[in-house]
Order: sequence, then structure tokens, then C-alpha cells
Amino acid sequence: MIFYFTATGNSRAAAEALGNELGEKVADITEATRMCEFIYHVSEGEMVGFVFPVYFYGAPTIVGEFVNNIRLEGSKDPYVFCIITCGEKIAAADRQFAKMLGRSGLSLRCTYPLVMPNNSVLWYELPTPEQQVKMLADADADMIKISTAIRNGEVGSYSSGLGSRLKTSFMQSLYKHGRKTAKFHAEDTCTGCGLCARNCPIGAIMIDEKRPKWVAERCVLCLACINRCPVTAIQYGNATKNRRRYVNPILKKGL
Ligand SMILES: Cc1cc2nc3c(=O)[nH]c(=O)nc-3n(C[C@H](O)[C@H](O)[C@H](O)COP(=O)(O)O)c2cc1C
Repeated sequence: MIFYFTATGNSRAAAEALGNELGEKVADITEATRMCEFIYHVSEGEMVGFVFPVYFYGAPTIVGEFVNNIRLEGSKDPYVFCIITCGEKIAAADRQFAKMLGRSGLSLRCTYPLVMPNNSVLWYELPTPEQQVKMLADADADMIKISTAIRNGEVGSYSSGLGSRLKTSFMQSLYKHGRKTAKFHAEDTCTGCGLCARNCPIGAIMIDEKRPKWVAERCVLCLACINRCPVTAIQYGNATKNRRRYVNPILKKGL
């Protein structure tokens, strides 16, 4: 069983590629959370994987909440791994995630960071289309190595250095106290299609008089609303106005 969370498709693409390779079922954490589906049966010998993007060198809030609620029945001590997709580095996100899993009685055996195109448009210009093609091809090659390692039941931690731990701890406090929605807004080019509201993993957006309205004070900060808007109408203050957006091809296929 492979659980994934995604905003712009990278983690879903990785989870589905792995699911096909290993013959494991794939479940979307956003859907499972919406449906309050937290109990899963794991057969003896079945693997349990989590695939999600790194945010501020840690796990997205929705992933932490899912792991906090999950109950796995059947196999006593399944092989648990995670793949953390990132634009560059995960610091000690795996350590933080191992602690989260530990509170639900699961032990993380192995972590695989996977560099994919960056979607953090609030802070950076995103890769060009040409760079995206190259990064996705590299990620496909990395996934072949990762699935072999997982199939072989590899064990080991990714990061444990003090520098990584400090980075994660500092950046996670920014994430915890940030995530405010006040600066999100739609420009006049907005068509009121409602895709942003449907794509928001926590229902923080409502459509009011054909315009999105952010109704929660804080969100996951996944940036699906900004990156997946078909007419690039959603902005965050002045930060995102002239920047590219990113969506993984898996979401463009409409699969
Ligand atoms: C709020 C936020 C914070 C991020 N923080 C990091 C980070 O700390 N390190 C990093 O390498 N990438 C970071 N990224 C980039 C994403 O982790 C990366 O693009 C990921 O593959 C997106 O996955 P998705 O397409 O499944 O949503 C961040 C993205 C967002 C939206």
C-alpha cells in the first residue's frame, strides 16, 4: 500500500510509478482525509509507503495529520518507507517523519529523497519548461534505483547530521506559524471556474460571486491553487505576479 499527497503532481507521479513497478495499491491522502478513511488492512509481507513533497524541510501538515490518525491492521511490523519529493533538499524531514510514524506505532525503515521540479513559486522563479523535462527524466532514472532498493527491503536513515536537524527545526517553526491565507487573491482574469476550490486539499477556498475566497485563516500552503489555475489568475501578494507556474504532466493528462 502506497499513500501519497500531492499538490502539483510530482509525488503522485512517483507513487504511481512505484505502485506499477511493485504491484502495490496507491491511495491519495487528500481523498482519504476527506472521506475519513484511516483504517487499512496490510497483509503479511505487504509494504507500506508514503510519498509526499517536503515543505520547509519537513512534512506537509495534512500528511502529519493523516499519519496521526492512521491505523494499520493485519501485518504486525510491515516494511515502511517514504519517498520525499523536493526541489533541492529535504534536510532532516525524514527524521521528523519517523517521529510522526513512531507515535502511530510504525517504524520508518528507509527514506528516499527524490529531486523533482520545484513548485514553491512564493519564493523562487520556477524551472523553465526545458529544465522541467530534464529534471523529470532524471527523476524517472532515480525512481528505477529507488524501486529496486525498496523491492530489496533496504534499511537505513537518510539524514542525521546536526546541521540538517537545525535547518528542519528552524524552518518548521516558520511553517507552523506561517501558512496564512491573507495574501492569496484572484485577479480580474479569473473566470470563476472553481478549479482552485476543488483542488484545495483542505477546503480553504470557496467560490463567492464567481471569485475564490480564502475562508480558512491558515492552509497547507501547498500552492495547488496558484500553480494549477488555468488562467494564472491567482497571486500571493506581489510575489508571484511575473513568475512561471509548475504542474507535473501527470495532472495535464487528466488521468
Ligand atoms: C510550501 C512549500 C515549501 C517547500 N519547501 C521545500 C524545501 O524545504 N526544500 C525543497 O527542496 N523543496 C521545497 N518545496 C518544493 C516541493 O517540495 C517540490 O516541488 C515537490 O516535488 C512538489 O511536490 P508535488 O508536485 O507532489 O506537490 C516546497 C514547496 C512548497 C509548496
